Amino acid sequence: MTDRRQQRLVCKCMGISDVRLRRYITENSLKTVDEVREMCNASGTCGACRADVEGILGEIAGLAPTFTDEDQEFVDMELRLRCEATVENGVAPVLAEKGLEIQFIDAYGLTAEVRVTGEADEGALKFIIDRLRDYIAADLEVVIYRNRDEEPWHGPPPA
Ligand code: FES
Repeated sequence: MTDRRQQRLVCKCMGISDVRLRRYITENSLKTVDEVREMCNASGTCGACRADVEGILGEIAGLAPTFTDEDQEFVDMELRLRCEATVENGVAPVLAEKGLEIQFIDAYGLTAEVRVTGEADEGALKFIIDRLRDYIAADLEVVIYRNRDEEPWHGPPPA
């Protein structure tokens, strides 16, 4: 089984990870970016992921990998910015109404970490996960630290 922390977001518009994209490509014998776009709409919106989709198609076809460590740093930085903005604008205001605070910690691969301060019940924790998955990617793993010393709460795995 793939370590979820090794996954990364390829198509930000459609919230598609590299693992899910590889599965679409292999299970459906896709060969071109156009076929990928028809299948799942990756690269079909802003087009920013087109080169990455081509690289993954090439890797599966047996060509040398094209995704570099520098590319990964860029993808992680984008993921951080998107998660931080979602936490600040889409999650924090709702939690504040319940007397809770949320702080973005980090994001990498396909994982986001946040900290919640206050008496967060399971409904509030589930809201955080659902909102981040809606805005970022259905495959996102959300790790929630509660207050200072508690073990993180991972919630349900992605569907
Ligand atoms: S990032 Fe894939 S279409 Fe925009």
